[in-house]
Formats: sequence, C-alpha cells, structure tokens
Amino acid sequence: MESCLFSYPGHELSLPNIVKAENTYVYDDQGNRYLDLESGVWCTCLGHCNPEILRVMTRQAAELAHTGFGFTMPVVEETARTLLDLHGFQGGRAVFLCSGSEAVEFGVRVTRDALGQADFLTMAGSYFGAYGAAHGKDQWHLFDWRPCKACEKSVCSHDCRHWTAIPFETITSFVFEPGSAGGIVGFPPRKVVRAIAEAVRGNHGIIMVNEVTTGMGRTGRWFGYEHYDIRPDIVAMGKGLGNGYPVSAAVVSERVSNMLPDETIAYAQSHQNDPLGAAVAGAVIEGIRSGNLIEHAAQLSVYLMTGLNHIRETTGSIKEIRGRGLMVAIELSGDEAVARQVRRELLAKGYILAQRPGLNVLRIDPALTMETAELEGFLNALDDVLAHL
Ligand SMILES: Cc1ncc(COP(=O)(O)O)c(C=O)c1O
Repeated sequence: MESCLFSYPGHELSLPNIVKAENTYVYDDQGNRYLDLESGVWCTCLGHCNPEILRVMTRQAAELAHTGFGFTMPVVEETARTLLDLHGFQGGRAVFLCSGSEAVEFGVRVTRDALGQADFLTMAGSYFGAYGAAHGKDQWHLFDWRPCKACEKSVCSHDCRHWTAIPFETITSFVFEPGSAGGIVGFPPRKVVRAIAEAVRGNHGIIMVNEVTTGMGRTGRWFGYEHYDIRPDIVAMGKGLGNGYPVSAAVVSERVSNMLPDETIAYAQSHQNDPLGAAVAGAVIEGIRSGNLIEHAAQLSVYLMTGLNHIRETTGSIKEIRGRGLMVAIELSGDEAVARQVRRELLAKGYILAQRPGLNVLRIDPALTMETAELEGFLNALDDVLAHL
C-alpha cells in the first residue's frame, strides 16, 4: 500500500504493514516476526503492549481519561509525587504533558520565568525536540565538548582555552542532555559536565536535564544524570515514561518552584495533567521497579557490549561502539550506504535497528525487558551480515 503520510527527508519506511506487537517483537500482515531493537522510538521500555500497562490504561480510560488542567485527582497527584521522589525533589512541582519536546520546552519556560532573563549554555549537538526555543537554541551558547574527550587534566581550569571560551559571567542556565543527541549517542566527560554544573550553580543559576531518551532506566540507572553525580533543578522526561502512550513530564525542584511568581506558570494545554497519562506513567515506574529492570538492563548491556566488541575485532567493519546501558550506537567503517545496507539485511533477517539519514551509525535501544537469548540471535545475525559485506 502506498503511504499517504509525510515522511522525514532521507528516511526509509521499512515495514509498511506492521499489524501487531508483543513485548520485544512486532509482526507484519504476513505473519513475519521482527525483534524490535529500537523499542519503537526508544519508548516501549516495558515492551510493546505490556499487559499490566494495558490493564491500568483500560481501567483508567474507562474511569476518567481526561479532565483539563484546572482539576487534580489522586492518580495525578500520586504519580507526580512518585516522580518528584525519584529525583529527590520533595517540596517541588510537577506537570504531565504529551511529548518529550513539550517537557523540555516547559522546563525552558520555567527557567526563563524563574530567572527573569536567562542565558543558556548547552553541549553542541544536543537534541531537545522537534520545535520551540530548545530546538532552535537561538542565542544559546553551544559548548563543543569533543576536544575534552582526549583531555588528561584532572580539572577544567583557566589554562584551558576551551574552558575560558565559555562566558560564565553571563551564563545562568545549563541544559544538559546526558548522552543521546538524537540517537547518535555520545557521552560528554564527567569532569567537564560537573565543572559546568558547579560554575552555573555558583552563578545561582538553574541546571536542567533532558532525560527524554536517557531516563526510565535506559542507561542502566534510573536517569542519565546519575552517571555524572550532578543535582539538577529541572528534569524533563518522556518516551519510556509512557511505554508508547504519549505522556511526558517535567519536575522542578522546590528551590526553583519558589523562584516562580506564586509558584505558578502561565502554561496550559488541553491534555496537561490528564489522569490517563499520569496513570500510565505511574504504572511504568512500578513496572520498572517490580521487574528489577534497571539491574536487568545494566546486565544486558554488558552482554551486548561484549558481543559487539568481539564482532568489531573479528570483522573490522565497525569503527566505534558507543554505549551506556541499553543505549548503543554502532558507527560502521565506510559511508552511509554501508549502514543502510546492513540495516536492510538485518531487517530481512528479522531485526529492526535504526539509522539516521546521512550517517553511518546504527542504533540499538531495546526494551528493558529484552532477554539475553534475543540479543544473542541479533549478535549472530550482525556478525553474519558484517562478515559478508
Ligand atoms: C534527547 C531527546 N530529547 C527530546 C526529544 C523529543 O521528544 P519527542 O519526540 O517525544 O517530542 C527526543 C526525541 O527523540 C530526544 O531524543
């Protein structure tokens, strides 16, 4: 069937006839089964059509799905508190929204309202969403951290020209995305992230973390910022929070909430704080906890990275593997056409990976419910495809 949907430039529509999904697999209308190593767009952390999420979702939908932001109810309050507790933000405030882009944008709005006038710094290449101020980053300072990768100094200081190029005298907000950059996967060094966070704190500024991709256990910890030992003031979450249902959230610490006039913010949209989204988010958190899925993801990651490194050594077709937890990018030797070919051949063998147009990078962001045997099958298939390139 010819698709009538808009597509992304250069993006291939690989499986036009998907008809159902279950946990880590999707099925097409011919009954073919594919292992979804992308978990949708890195969303279904508990697996597609998770029965417990489905149960909570249908019960809540039957009871009360939507009210409007002028109301509150126990399920919304409880999930908001759970999220605040996860970040140690007792006394802070939360909001439920519909997409990761919106949660980040909300955080930017809070920052601006709290500070009056904010001067933003972020890492070059960070991805914050499909639209809005954080997408455009107009007049934001972009710090290129790539030279820091090879830096051997123990601290960032005034004898570093990259460090002194940051105009800290004006910077009042650091917006940090701990590792994904739209799926390309890169981890700014801990030392420089901590140093920037400290400098912004010293300016009485605001640290916001974008956990849309790296949150909900994806990196082998609850949140990506935990790998950096920094304490944010605002956290934006999405994707895995809804396990495929479009709910996102932003949480704000008590300190920053208190900086807002009357702790209010003039932001309102139709589905803000909907009970259905909040119920789903609460069930996702509970599912991750009760399934010990963060520990599971950390263990699976070791298995996956070991297997990938072995393939890298034996085939010579992989330039670099970057990964943390179950967020992994494989940079292939050769150009984009090679990545496209490898992706297509893996698809024919029943494995779904993503490739960003223009880049020779394949992404792996599976559900936290994936099993070792499934990854073993994938590693064998990858090995086979690369060996016959
Ligand atoms: C790091 C990051 N932030 C924000 C977003 C935007 O989220 P959404 O697509 O749900 O609006 C994405 C989406 O891929 C992302 O990867």
